[in-house]
Amino acid sequence: KIIVLDFGSQYNQLITRRIRDLGIYSELMSHEITADEVKALNPKGIIFSGGPNSVYADDALRVDPEIFKLGIPILGICYGMQLMAYNLGGQVKSDNGQYGRAAITVTSDDAKLFANTPKEQNVWMSHGDLVTKVPEGFTAVATSPECPISAMQDTARNFYGIQFHAEVRNTDYGNDILKHFAFDVCHAEANWSMDDFIDLQIQHIRETVGDKKVLLGLSGGVDSSVVGVLLHKAIGNQLTSIFVDHGLLRKGEAEQVMASLKGKFGLNIIEVNAADRFLSKLKGVSEPEKKRKIIGNEFIQVFNDEAQKLNGIDFLAQGTLYTDVVESGTDTAQTIKSHHNVGGLPEDMKFQLIEPLRTLFKDEARELGEKLGMPSDLVWRQPFPGPGLGIRVIGEITPEKLEIVRDSDFILRDEIKKAGLDRDIWQYFTVLPGIRSVGVMGDGRTYDYTVGIRAVTSIDGMTADFAHIPYEVLAQISTRIVNEVKHVNRIVYDVTSKPPSTIEWE
Ligand code: XMP
Repeated sequence: KIIVLDFGSQYNQLITRRIRDLGIYSELMSHEITADEVKALNPKGIIFSGGPNSVYADDALRVDPEIFKLGIPILGICYGMQLMAYNLGGQVKSDNGQYGRAAITVTSDDAKLFANTPKEQNVWMSHGDLVTKVPEGFTAVATSPECPISAMQDTARNFYGIQFHAEVRNTDYGNDILKHFAFDVCHAEANWSMDDFIDLQIQHIRETVGDKKVLLGLSGGVDSSVVGVLLHKAIGNQLTSIFVDHGLLRKGEAEQVMASLKGKFGLNIIEVNAADRFLSKLKGVSEPEKKRKIIGNEFIQVFNDEAQKLNGIDFLAQGTLYTDVVESGTDTAQTIKSHHNVGGLPEDMKFQLIEPLRTLFKDEARELGEKLGMPSDLVWRQPFPGPGLGIRVIGEITPEKLEIVRDSDFILRDEIKKAGLDRDIWQYFTVLPGIRSVGVMGDGRTYDYTVGIRAVTSIDGMTADFAHIPYEVLAQISTRIVNEVKHVNRIVYDVTSKPPSTIEWE
C-alpha cells in the first residue's frame, strides 16, 4: 500500500483515489502519524498532500522528521514538496501565488517521474509559496517561468517533489507521474480491488460492532442503500434500518428500493409512511429554504421517534461519502459548506457512528453496490436531493402538484432511458413552476399548468451545462406529458447553465 499524509488540501483524498485506481491500496492518514507508526504500516511509499498553509507559519502542519529516515520513497505534492524542502535543508519563499493551468518544461533527461512524457506539458498549479533552493542531494528537474523549481528529485533517497497537482485531471500527465512513482519508484504491485475493500470493511465492521446492534437511516438514495447491503453482509440481523418515506420521492422509487433491500437482500427494515405528516408541516409554506428546513427537521424527528422505540442500539450507520466529509470540513481541510448528511445528527442521540463509505467517491460507492450484487438500475440512479420533489414543486406544495411533478418526471425518465441518454445526462427532472397559461385541447380552451424540463451535464454538480437533448426526444417527452398528465398544457425546456442558474429551481 501507499499512504497519503493529509496536510489539508481539498484534493487529498483524490490522491488516494488515483492510487487505488492503479490497483494499489491507499489510505489517507493524519500528518501527525509518527515514524514508528508508519514503519508498522510498512507502506511501499508515502505521499505528502498539498495544504493551505505556509511552512513558515506558526500553525503550519508538520511531519515527524524521522519519517525521512525510514528508507521509504516519498513524493511531496505542492505543500508536501515545500515541507520536504523545509525539513531537508532547502528554501521556501512566499510568493504572489499561482492558480490554474501552467506550462512546465522538464529540464532533465533523468527526471524519473516524467519518463516517457513530453518535455513541455501542462500542469495544474495552486500554490502561494514555492521552493527557491532544493535541499542537498536533490536536483531540480522541471521549471516554469512563474515557478523555476516546479519539480525536484533525489534518486538516491527516493525523494520526489512536484509543485503542481498530479492528482487532478487538468494536469496532462498527472496519472503517468503517479504511476511512475507507484510502480517504478515504490515497486508497488497492482493487486488491490473493490473486492478487497469489501472484505476489509466487513472485517472492520465486525470488529467494531462485535455483538452489538446498529441502526441505519435509509433515505431511499444510493449511498444509504449501499451501506445497508454492506452492513447486512457483515452483521446480518444485528442491523435494523428505518426507512422514512416523506412522500417526496419519485414515482415507484420507494417500492423499488424496498423490493431490492427487503425482498432480495433480506434487510430488516422498519418502514414509516410519513407523507401526511410532512405535507401538513409544509402546508402554506412557499419559501425554498424554509421548505428545506422543515423537511430536514421533520426527517430527523420521525427517525428519532422510531429510533426511540428500539432498545439496545449502540451504533448509527450513515452513507457519508468523502465529498460530504470535505464539504463539511475535515480535521485539516477548510469548510466549504455544512452538509446535511453530516450535520443533521440529533444531538441527544448517544450513538457511535459507522460510516463505511467515508473514504469513497460517488462512483466508487456505485461500483461497491454493484460488487455487492445490487441491481445497476438502483445503483446508477441520478443524484436526487434530500428534500426530494419538495423543491421541484415551486412554492407551496400540494398533493395535486406533487402528483403532476411525479407523473411528468416518470415520463421524462422513461423517454430519456428509451433514447439511451440516461448515463450521458447527469441529472434530469421536471419542475412545476406553478404558473398557468391558456391552451386549447380538443375543442375547448384550457387554463392549466406549465411543466419545466431540466436536464444537465455535469461532473460534480458544482457547475453544469444544460443537456443538448435532441428535438425529437424533447417532442416525444412533451407530447406524452401533455397527453398523460392531467392539468398540464404546456412544456418548457430550461436552457441555462450553472452558473448563473442552479440545477434545481429552488
Ligand atoms: P443546485 O441546485 O445547488 O444543485 O445547483 C446541485 C446538486 O445538489 C442537489 N441538491 C441538493 N441535495 N439537499 C440535497 O441533498 C438539498 O437541499 C439539495 N439542493 C440541491 C441537486 O439535486 C444537484 O444534484
